[in-house]
Amino acid sequence: MSTFIYFFWLLLLLLVTITFTKRFQTSKINLPPGPQKLPIIGNLHNLDGLLHICLQKLSKTYGPVMKLHFGFVPIVIVSSNKAAEEVLKTHDLDCCSRPETIATKKISYNFKDIGFAPYGEEWRALRKLAVIELFSLKKLNSFRYIREEENDLLVKKLSEASQKQSPVNLKKALFTLVASIICRLAFGQNLHESEFIDEDGMEELASRSEKLQAKFAFSNFFPGGWIVDRITGQSKSLEGLFSELDDFFNQVLDDHLKPGRSVLESPDVVDVMIDMMNKQGGDGSFKLTTDHIKGIISDIFLAGVNTSATTILWAMTELMRNPSVMKKVQDEVRTVLGESRQRITEEDLNQLNYFKLVIKETFRLHPTAPLLLPRETMSPIKVRGYDIPKKTQIMINVYAIARDPKLWENPDEFKPERFSDISVDYRGLNFELLPFGSGRRICPGMTMGIAMVELGLLNLLYFFDWVLPEGTTVKDIDMEEEGAVIISKKAPLELVPICPR
Ligand code: HEM
Repeated sequence: MSTFIYFFWLLLLLLVTITFTKRFQTSKINLPPGPQKLPIIGNLHNLDGLLHICLQKLSKTYGPVMKLHFGFVPIVIVSSNKAAEEVLKTHDLDCCSRPETIATKKISYNFKDIGFAPYGEEWRALRKLAVIELFSLKKLNSFRYIREEENDLLVKKLSEASQKQSPVNLKKALFTLVASIICRLAFGQNLHESEFIDEDGMEELASRSEKLQAKFAFSNFFPGGWIVDRITGQSKSLEGLFSELDDFFNQVLDDHLKPGRSVLESPDVVDVMIDMMNKQGGDGSFKLTTDHIKGIISDIFLAGVNTSATTILWAMTELMRNPSVMKKVQDEVRTVLGESRQRITEEDLNQLNYFKLVIKETFRLHPTAPLLLPRETMSPIKVRGYDIPKKTQIMINVYAIARDPKLWENPDEFKPERFSDISVDYRGLNFELLPFGSGRRICPGMTMGIAMVELGLLNLLYFFDWVLPEGTTVKDIDMEEEGAVIISKKAPLELVPICPR
């Protein structure tokens, strides 16, 4: 009995010591400010509407480094270029992991991918392999003919619409353009001829995957939340969405593993990965598996299609709202390329200056991943003097930074000229403009994304003039956004293409 009492008191003393030490430590650290949290829900009551816009508003009150609680999970939001530089450059290595959620675990085949996997040996090996074998300049160039052919096809379809003077749903047309390019170069699937997926099926699948990624699950934010997820059916719907995606990826893989399949002169991404998997020796620690291949297919599908298509759509939307910019860019394009071209190639892009500024301004006003993908700290860091403990989620609000009036004059206006005298670029080195992120987790598909956006927009501007359908005016153009991680334009953009010649 006396031994029991002795241990009991020892345990009590230990608990008291831990509590006091913790209190002492907490009182010494300088945590970022933030709105008052409520028990259990934390700051969820402060979040209303699109997250990036809501967080932009809150940061006007609480500053560029603020702390919120999503349920039980502390999240730090960064909304200035200086703080973003500290996170993504100074502390890049300490901040380059990703938080693990139920949905991302599922969609990434248990983190066997690049986008959602936490930082570690496996992620490093996979990212290195992808950067060299899948996203290199050589690979990008080898797929150039696919981008050009798919653009030619779009121009053909738009020319038919222009003869009938019928409006085109540009959101759908651009989604099909980018999805067709990605499906050919990554999965070897020609969307116009595929046996198991067509354009509509593809659009449906992409919107489902976006929903899957963004699924709000109680289990992510509350201890024991899996019970709520079971009761509300959240877990079942996650499983359902995932199994549809998985069926598609299995079909892609099976198609590549069919005996007698001949690999074309430019093997697609899946061919390259299957080849690497078959050739790998028994040595070395990292082993490529079919789950890694599916994880990467899933990344490319999720990260590549909506982002690029939406960027071209926003560029066209802004140009329609700003006719003088539209005139100036079309004048440049047609003067530089001449009036009588039958088709456009990527070489034509080199000579265009104002056109490139239009794209820059589109990336500034409409970053498709306005909060990037969330990071997680691997050790304690200091940002702008505030302490951020280990295992804290960090979101960088690149949307808020790109519209910060301290950095940009009339930030909400679409004015490509603002870039003519400054050397700010969007490739991850200037922290006031980060549509592709920065640091170790920067978008590896950036060059491919830019190539698709530039060629797509150039074709639209060179071959057609654009007018709004009869009875509508510029004021009717709906600018509302939708989405969770990747934000797209909610309403379709209906325009009539006119052949100028
Ligand atoms: C306009 C087009 C695109 C935009 C705006 C974009 C933007 C982004 C952003 C903001 C991130 C997060 C970066 C960070 O956390 O710092 C990202 C990550 C990623 N993107 Fe892109 N992206 C585009 C196109 C593509 C394409 C075409 C692909 C592949 C074919 C791709 C593949 C990826 C992957 C795999 C990641 C995860 C990287 C990692 O966590 O290591 N993206 N992208």
